[in-house]
Amino acid sequence: MSAEIIDGKAFAAKVRAKVASHVARLKADHDIQPGLAVVLVGEDPASQVYVRSKGKMTVEVGMNSYEHKLAADTPEADVLALIERLNNDADVHGILVQLPLPDHMNEDLVVNAVDPAKDVDGFSISNVGLLATGQKTMVPCTPLGCLMMLREHHGSLSGLDAVVIGRSNIVGKPMAALLLGDSCTVTIAHSRTKDLPDVVRRADIVVAAVGRAEMVLGDWIKPGATVIDVGINRIDAPERGEGKTRLVGDVDFDSAVDVAGAITPVPGGVGPMTIACLLANTVTACSRANGLKEPEGLTV
Ligand code: GUN
Repeated sequence: MSAEIIDGKAFAAKVRAKVASHVARLKADHDIQPGLAVVLVGEDPASQVYVRSKGKMTVEVGMNSYEHKLAADTPEADVLALIERLNNDADVHGILVQLPLPDHMNEDLVVNAVDPAKDVDGFSISNVGLLATGQKTMVPCTPLGCLMMLREHHGSLSGLDAVVIGRSNIVGKPMAALLLGDSCTVTIAHSRTKDLPDVVRRADIVVAAVGRAEMVLGDWIKPGATVIDVGINRIDAPERGEGKTRLVGDVDFDSAVDVAGAITPVPGGVGPMTIACLLANTVTACSRANGLKEPEGLTV
């Protein structure tokens, strides 16, 4: 039997529509326009693509987009000074510093310079601590998008066995905290995990965020399990012609789709949800900053 395909692209469009309607209400009722500032240091091509796409979608939902593009050799002190300025700018409700930063910068220092109330990535120590202790916070965008899709598919996640493959601060760890918050029994697996296929086979929910192309195979998946593939890996695709490439996830989709109950494709699964959740976090941050009711269904 073939798994249900979880359409992240369609779901992300619904989230963006909800954001847009909340933005319109903020403007009409309170004369407030949410603003998102993105700081990009250097010329990393993938980061440039993400930032362009973020800016376009920010404007599409009716928010202000402020882009700060700095040269790769910008001194760390200048980036910190810019963040300080954005922290104090009442028109800026969300600040995102695109990662990775150039090697000469202390990423922890820069990330933690962002005012936690404007930290729409949810990467600062205080927001991570709030998430870990089950308190209201800014939830990192990719895991938030994964949780939204899981809740939409399952309703309640209570009591389900979940395995998160990958222990990054951006995805694996916050994903595990969110699943625990929804009363799953959570295992965090990683590259050193013994008998990984057996660990994955126990799971009702598999979140693959390990960064290795097509590593999770169909015969690792418990029949009927829900598979969320966070991986975005570019691989050679000689079948499409010389020098051609294609995007694949961390899951071997072709074998997993025959075993899973539901699965996210790559592209078109988790990816579009990440930017939608960034916009959701920005409108949530703006509502909180103005002492207004938060939009429903856009955060946990
Ligand atoms: N680089 C890759 N993913 C992300 C993300 O979610 N946030 C930021 N700030 N940078 C990234």
